[in-house]
Amino acid sequence: VVDIRKLYGASGKFTFDPGFLSTAACESKITYIDGDKGELLYRGFPIEQLAVNCDYLETCYLLLNGDLPNEAQRKDFENRVLKHTMIHEQMTRFFAGFRRDAHPMAILVGCVGALSAFYHDSLDIQNPEHRFVSAIRLIAKMPTMVAMAYKYSVGQPFMYPRNDLSYAGNFMRMMFGTPCEEYQVNPVLERALDRILILHADHEQNASTSTVRLAGSSGANPFACIAAGIATLWGPAHGGANEACLVMLGEIQQQGGIEKIGDFIANVKDKNSGVKLMGFGHRVYKNYDPRAKLMRETCYEVLGELGLENDPLFALAMKLEQIALEDEYFVQRKLYPNVDFYSGIVQRALGIPTEMFTCIFALARTVGWIAQWGEMIGEPDQKIGRPRQLFTGSTRREVVPIAQR
Ligand code: ACO
Repeated sequence: VVDIRKLYGASGKFTFDPGFLSTAACESKITYIDGDKGELLYRGFPIEQLAVNCDYLETCYLLLNGDLPNEAQRKDFENRVLKHTMIHEQMTRFFAGFRRDAHPMAILVGCVGALSAFYHDSLDIQNPEHRFVSAIRLIAKMPTMVAMAYKYSVGQPFMYPRNDLSYAGNFMRMMFGTPCEEYQVNPVLERALDRILILHADHEQNASTSTVRLAGSSGANPFACIAAGIATLWGPAHGGANEACLVMLGEIQQQGGIEKIGDFIANVKDKNSGVKLMGFGHRVYKNYDPRAKLMRETCYEVLGELGLENDPLFALAMKLEQIALEDEYFVQRKLYPNVDFYSGIVQRALGIPTEMFTCIFALARTVGWIAQWGEMIGEPDQKIGRPRQLFTGSTRREVVPIAQR
């Protein structure tokens, strides 16, 4: 007699749930989403309030520690992050080993994983201080590494971090500055980038976060786990959507712009076309993604600051949204814009090239990944993640030697 609890866990039940539509794989106290209401809370705080009242580093502190910092805690946290913004000088050779035209996400997957080879002194995952130092190292080094991936692709010298600037300002300088002249950070654009980072900081058990947790459940080190998360984020159905959305808008623009939206929507509705409206739809939100609202406001601010109010892609995106939201196909399926619908336009206005968009997402999400990883490792009875399967292959059969096949 087989005790099915041994096979299928304490409940004794086996569930078949492809895509995990209704299976929770963990308990978490970090992020809450009410998909029907369109609500997103980090540690209980609404994203709308965090985006207005806090900066990204405060949000990182919140996600990692469970509450917002007071001024002294904020300063101490910032100092710890600033101490780690440099990467080991030998790491620069990793970047130089890639082809110049390599996708920056490919570079990021490799280089973040390679951090495990340099920071042996924080790899004891059972030690809470090691876990914290690894988290700080990742948050601190990601902007440096993302900017290096970009600088390498355009053939410019790497810019080293300047720790008197804000987290976002420092990143902008490393991306757009050169050693030849002093880079002036525009405060409106700096705030917009900081907001992009806040809005992307965590989103509970999405594909990349679940990957980080699964990788981490085997005891793998945090740098390797975050590299696995970056790999998962790269796909167009996840973090690659803002890049894909901007490409889509560009194509509609080329085909005739606003006048051609009707044809494009008809194509999306034709199931044989394989075309999706990128930046629309979400597994959890069956209402307007609250991040998309904030991103649309940020879009207005940034385009206004740069005198690009009449940006044709923004106008096209607004019209496309309006038409889709009135269309029965999208209404019936509860498809609304997600955060990526407008984030590409903002990033483009900030001067970030399209192929870097997903890297910015990875930079922002690193804190969410590492907070979720830390929460899991800190559990007293943490188990290795091991999904079951519904086997549909051949029944037992005998091997015939090759000469007789
Ligand atoms: N365009 C057109 N139709 C869509 C879209 C879309 N963007 N999204 C979903 N649908 C349709 C599906 O074809 C399906 O139709 P059906 O019921 O007639 O078969 C129905 O809506 C339900 O969609 P599912 O694919 O079952 O939804 P799921 O939860 O599996 O997928 C996903 C969610 C992957 C985000 C999907 O909406 C999508 O591919 N969107 C475009 C890519 C995108 O913007 N991704 C970013 C997500 S947010 C993020 O990662 C930050």
